[in-house]
Amino acid sequence: MKIQDLLREERAAVETSLDRLLPDESAWPSRLHAAMRYAVFGGGKRIRPILARLAHRAAGGDADDITAAACGIELIHTYSLIHDDLPALDDDVLRRGRSTVHVAFDEATAILTGDALLTLGLEVLATCPEPEAWAARRARAVALVAAAAGSRGMVGGQVEDLAATGHLDEDGGAAASRLELIHRHKTGDLLRASVQLGAVLAGAAPETEALFAEFGARLGMAFQVADDILDATATAEELGKSPGKDEAAGKLTFVTLYGLDRARAILHDLESRLESLASQLEAPGGPLGALAHFICQRRS
Ligand code: IPE
Ligand code: IPE
Ligand code: MG
Ligand code: MG
Ligand code: MG
Repeated sequence: MKIQDLLREERAAVETSLDRLLPDESAWPSRLHAAMRYAVFGGGKRIRPILARLAHRAAGGDADDITAAACGIELIHTYSLIHDDLPALDDDVLRRGRSTVHVAFDEATAILTGDALLTLGLEVLATCPEPEAWAARRARAVALVAAAAGSRGMVGGQVEDLAATGHLDEDGGAAASRLELIHRHKTGDLLRASVQLGAVLAGAAPETEALFAEFGARLGMAFQVADDILDATATAEELGKSPGKDEAAGKLTFVTLYGLDRARAILHDLESRLESLASQLEAPGGPLGALAHFICQRRS
């Protein structure tokens, strides 16, 4: 199946489940529930839950078993986008092709909508219906996602991203390792956790789980290098968010540190490494390799 067709099918499965998991707008507190739905259904690519489903299948599970748990990660990711866009962070007005939550609603609602999506995401992971075999695996699965999202994971990366903003004059070596740290955590950890969740819930052996985790971590790095490149090269229509913000804000990115050509070469090397890792996880031409290729070549 072509990757575009696969992604369309996968996205439909994820969105049906998200719709079931999110509280109805008519239920109290309705303005908050309206904002949660507004943020989630604004046209995201759903890469993280799709990765969890594909990894689960590659590790021997049934992708449909993991859909709700995978959506827990998408809810956590959506919270991170709402807070990333706040005036105190990146101060963005466009996300997923529409006004950001703090613009469409108000800042307090955006903060609280993020809080509610993060906690709902963890609740879903902790309570979604499970095959019996998962009972012993669930606690680890919840802990691994929570840790990836927290201070030693995504939030830590965001703190470091903000601290580095406006300090592009730092010496080369220090900036390079700082950049690596930022991307590994702010974006890499949740993508890695998505892949690892699929393997853990399928009951993968420790060495197999480690291979999935390495694939996810590298994919996360590639994802953010591509995001940096797109910020410098794509249009608002393609991205559904405002381009050109990183340079204007003085962000430390692969493009602002190394320039476009070198950033593209680094992404190319990551893509080759991902191809070889994918070949250890699935049969040649499998969906994880195809998704990795798509992520490295994406225009949105
Ligand atoms: C954007 O993530 C934030 C980053 C980590 C770069 P996505 O590019 O996955 O955003 P959506 O979910 O498709 O909107
Ligand atoms: C965001 O990185 C990472 C998280 C949301 C945790 P960016 O700030 O580069 O993401 P975009 O470009 O706003 O989507
Ligand atoms: Mg940011
Ligand atoms: Mg941002
Ligand atoms: Mg970006």
